[in-house]
Amino acid sequence: MVALRNLSLIVGAAILCRSRAVYAANSFAGSNLYYAAGLYEDDRTTLLDVPIVPIDLHRGLQSAGMKVLRVWLDGQSESQKGTNINPFPDLEPTQICNGVASCYNDTVLNRLDDFMVAANSYGIKGQTFIQDNQQWQCDRAATIKSQLSSDNILVMTGGESWMAESVQPDWLTCDSLDVISIHAYGTGDYDTSSIETYVQQAQSAGKKLIMEEWGACYFDTENNDCPTGDALSSDTRNANIQQWAGSITNAGLPWLYWEVIPNADPHYSYDYEIGLVDDPSWSTLKQVAQDALSATAAFDFSAYLL
Ligand SMILES: *[C@@H]1O[C@H](CO)[C@@H](O)[C@H](O)[C@H]1NC(C)=O
Repeated sequence: MVALRNLSLIVGAAILCRSRAVYAANSFAGSNLYYAAGLYEDDRTTLLDVPIVPIDLHRGLQSAGMKVLRVWLDGQSESQKGTNINPFPDLEPTQICNGVASCYNDTVLNRLDDFMVAANSYGIKGQTFIQDNQQWQCDRAATIKSQLSSDNILVMTGGESWMAESVQPDWLTCDSLDVISIHAYGTGDYDTSSIETYVQQAQSAGKKLIMEEWGACYFDTENNDCPTGDALSSDTRNANIQQWAGSITNAGLPWLYWEVIPNADPHYSYDYEIGLVDDPSWSTLKQVAQDALSATAAFDFSAYLL
């Protein structure tokens, strides 16, 4: 009820009553993996939820109660973040295809079809309409919306680099957009009070918000500048994860962590990753993901989750 209590300060009791009926849904957490279509089957199982025998604990995304995995249509040909890759080409391997069927290579779609079937059995949804680094303008969203056979698919923006840039006024008034995605790595953007101002704008506009990318840097640099540095102590990093996930959840936003990987984290380049193998931060991330499931959300995504 945290989000609703705070909302009442802003919009008053009359709206609060309506909000209670409309928005009294629980939150959720999930993760990103830009190379999901390249996973070999054993890594896929590890990521989704491998039982650890003989003690029968589980350690994958499902064990953290994570509900959504965001994937990409970009090809990959070599190992990424320490994960072996079964190579696959871009959906549009050589040029922008503009609907010319013979121009596309469906390998990535077929791979993701298989991935979604597997993910589904673990209670996790692959988002199907994710683009790479382009932003979805309103007309693009309209094109996608017109092609969808089902009302049960949300059309989202692609997110930008921080909160204010991610929530553009024109998107709030775009009929074809259902969800505005926020990508944020600056820690000020994780403050509950800061997020709530955007929550209020979105609620007024009848749109949903999601923290589609956030992460806790492995290094002791500024959180949004994470290419190299000295490693933070595990306690410090875990405290950061706890604090930031907590404040995002308290503002009523569901979130997708950047990113959970199915192997030990090799710690190279921009490093927000948390590995499922022996990572001292996985149990913390798992706990805050589970906490999100029992927190009240500012937006009702329940119809879209498994
Ligand atoms: C699509 O990509 C796969 C894998 O690289 C390749 O084997 C196949 O021939 C390609 N198909 C087309 C139609 O180009």
